[in-house]
Formats: sequence, structure tokens, C-alpha cells
Amino acid sequence: MKYLIINGSPRRKNTYKIIKQAESDLDGEFEEVHLIEKQIPMCLGCMNCIVVGEDKCPHHDKVQPIIEKMRECDGIIISSPVYALNVSALLKNFFDHTAYLYHRPQFFTKKALVVVSTAGAGHKKVAKYIDETLRHWGINKVYKISLACGGKESLETSKIDKEAIRFKKDVESRKLYSPKFGDVFYFNLWKSLAVSDEPIEADAEFWKGTGLVNCDYGPEVKLNILKKLFAKIIFKFFKSVM
Ligand SMILES: Cc1cc2nc3c(=O)[nH]c(=O)nc-3n(C[C@H](O)[C@H](O)[C@H](O)COP(=O)(O)O)c2cc1C
Repeated sequence: MKYLIINGSPRRKNTYKIIKQAESDLDGEFEEVHLIEKQIPMCLGCMNCIVVGEDKCPHHDKVQPIIEKMRECDGIIISSPVYALNVSALLKNFFDHTAYLYHRPQFFTKKALVVVSTAGAGHKKVAKYIDETLRHWGINKVYKISLACGGKESLETSKIDKEAIRFKKDVESRKLYSPKFGDVFYFNLWKSLAVSDEPIEADAEFWKGTGLVNCDYGPEVKLNILKKLFAKIIFKFFKSVM
């Protein structure tokens, strides 16, 4: 198995220690991307990634190699310390550069492990936010390790191991889970926008080019009859009002 680690902490301390403990429970190859070393400039808000295409982002040479690595791996480990009750600016800046993935979800066969460390507060909320972002990208299943490290000498290894082993077994099984209704909702909302009379150029190209325009959800993932029906209703509704 190939694992990609995207580390949103600028240093290799609490968050990194949790990553390393989790890594010890996994078998395979590991590649580390430390966002601090990538020096991705702040998102300029030009909207190019969303409107014209991600290759037109002024920082695409720094961002797209990471996206390529995400495509090539079996499991993604993505981490952040809690900063002012949110993710680190490093990880938020990466998320801003990947905002187009909300419009163009695509990682339907990938699983992720979210790692968050904090001194005392905000870890659950931040892990939930990262989970939400990854689901918008299309990621199939997200595991979470969020720990308060303040005042503790040693890591809560049993908590880390338990979740890391669940993640490992799942990645190795290659099982794909049925998406949540919310995921089916957003997929069909974006799909309907892409086929509207005045679509966003890059969205239209993506949805038609990948053939996703003909799917109720990522084609690799099975939907039960209820979710299929829900997908069609959402698509028809937004298509009629766009
Ligand atoms: C700029 C900054 C903001 C922080 N904000 C919070 C916070 O809101 N709540 C909290 O409990 N800890 C906060 N912390 C503490 C870190 O979340 C905590 O020490 C974390 O484990 C650091 O991870 P690292 O060792 O990977 O850098 C903050 C630390 C820094 C440097």
C-alpha cells in the first residue's frame, strides 16, 4: 500500500509524533509532504482554478504535484495542529488552492486518516472540518485521530493505534462505502450546474470529459435504490431551477 502524508504542521513535534505512531501500525510505502517546505504562496483569490481550470492557478506548479501524489496513493494521511480553534494557515492555504475540488469531486476510491493535535481545545471541531473538506473532494471514507497533547508527557498510543489499524484494514480491503446522502446531494448539485445553460467553463469540461455527467455518484461506488432516486431528484430539481 502507498500512503501519502500531507503535514499541515510547520514543525515536527506533537502532530508529527502522532503521525509517526499511526505509521507504525501501517504496512507499505510512505511519502511525506510537509506543506511548510512547499512554500505555496497565499491563494490570491483569482478564481482561475474554479472558473478556467486548476492548471491556470498561478501556483499550479506547487499545488498540482501534491494532487498527483494523492491520485497515486492508496491512503492519505492529512494533519494539522489546532491554531486559534481552526486548522493551521498552512493547511487552510492548501485547502483554498484545492477549492475547485468542491466543484469537481474525484477521489472516490481513496480513504483518508485525519490527524489533529491541540494543547487543549478545538481538536474535534478541526478534525470534523477536515473530514468535511475531504468528503467534498469525493474521498470515500475518513478516519480521525484528534488528541489534546497539552501537559502530557506521553502519547495516547492506544487511541492512535486503534484508529490507525481500522484505517489500515480498510485501505487494504479496498472496500468502498456507500456515500452519505449529503455527499450525493452535493455531487448532483455540482453536476446540475455543469450542465446548466451558462456553466462554469472548467466545471462543464470536467463533468463531460470524465463522463461523471452520466453518473448518480462516483462510478466506482455503489448506491442503493433510495440514494439513486435521491440523486436523480436532486439533479432534476437543480437543473430545473438553474
Ligand atoms: C499559533 C498557535 C495557535 C494555537 N491555538 C490553539 C488553540 O486555539 N487551542 C489549543 O488548545 N491549542 C492551540 N495551540 C497549541 C497547539 O495546537 C498544540 O500545541 C499542537 O499540539 C501543536 O502541534 P505541533 O507540535 O505539530 O506544532 C496553538 C498553537 C499555536 C502555535
